[in-house]
Amino acid sequence: MKRCLIGGCVVIVLVLIAFALGAWALVSITPPPSKRCGTPGGPPITAPRIRLSDGRHLAYQEHGVSRQNATFKIIFIHAFATFRRDAVIAHNVPPGFLEKNGIYVVSYDRPGYGESDPHPRRNERTLAYDVEQLADQLQLGSKFYVVGYSMGAQAVWGVLKYIPHRLAGATLLCPVVNSWWPSFPDSLTWELWNKKSITERFGMLVTHNTPWLLYWMNADKQLQKSAVMHSNPKLLCPTDMAILPKFAAREAYKNQTTQQGVYESLVRDTIVGFGKWSFDPMKIENPFPKGEGSVHLWQGDDDRVVPVQLQRIIPQKLSWIKYHEIPGAGHLFPMADGLAETILKALLPIPQSS
Ligand SMILES: *[C@@H]1O[C@H](CO)[C@@H](O)[C@H](O)[C@H]1NC(C)=O
Ligand SMILES: *[C@@H]1O[C@H](CO)[C@@H](O)[C@H](O)[C@H]1NC(C)=O
Repeated sequence: MKRCLIGGCVVIVLVLIAFALGAWALVSITPPPSKRCGTPGGPPITAPRIRLSDGRHLAYQEHGVSRQNATFKIIFIHAFATFRRDAVIAHNVPPGFLEKNGIYVVSYDRPGYGESDPHPRRNERTLAYDVEQLADQLQLGSKFYVVGYSMGAQAVWGVLKYIPHRLAGATLLCPVVNSWWPSFPDSLTWELWNKKSITERFGMLVTHNTPWLLYWMNADKQLQKSAVMHSNPKLLCPTDMAILPKFAAREAYKNQTTQQGVYESLVRDTIVGFGKWSFDPMKIENPFPKGEGSVHLWQGDDDRVVPVQLQRIIPQKLSWIKYHEIPGAGHLFPMADGLAETILKALLPIPQSS
């Protein structure tokens, strides 16, 4: 009887240990909750926001002429580790350019960035419907333009796939590519894969296959470090270096970028960017079969973040994309003198004389 009791105790202790270990494992793989804007202890709400159908909010900022008076309405989708205040396309045109041409630009915080609520289930599809709801609540009309920069292109591909009928035109600026998109030739993806370091490959494999392990792997801390891209010379080509001084303007507001937490902003971006997609972008159909609009892809041939070799495959597969390769340009070219204007003039049917 006594032996039995001792045995029972041992079993109970073992069960408790197992529970404790399980709880510890769960805690160590579960990211801390985000510090949501407007909640006690969270950052303040300073920007206008819309409320989406699922209750989340999106914060936005408007540039150029009023939307009521605009000839052209553009939704700008920001890059990795930046937010609505980094609307490069609106900030880097000559003064008066937007007004003279009747251009309205709205930039918004993608979920988890700046003052937009996080969205742990976000993906290339939900991002597209966020864009559509933003357009509808701001009453931009039945058709609008989208411009997405780098990681922001996730949403542009989503828009091209899921709501192409809402588009007047679209521009992808050095869009991040995902080596797992089925249309990339295996030989090329392997060649580029083999050039990556062991750490990079391991990180990519976990992000693609078991993203729930990322928090346990400290991905948030690592990404926070690498997010300061402009301090990582490995990712910058000489023309990027020349653009760096323009980042000084960010100093005043850059700490708002990931103020709600790094996991739901930066880590979530990589999980979508390098994850398993619900469609292959290189199988998307031409949104403008009658030529009523155009889709542009801009890429520098010295980009050290997004490999030009993979990017070149996309216009080969999608003949309706107008591909612009810029010699000597890296990943920061939308901020180079004159480029934003050139990019907008290619997208919008504005009179040549302006
Ligand atoms: C639209 O343009 C008109 C004429 O230039 C101007 O009077 C009006 O204030 C503008 N409306 C808005 C909302 O900006
Ligand atoms: C950002 O910096 C400003 C001034 O440097 C400070 O007042 C503000 O509290 C900071 N915000 C966050 C979220 O750290």
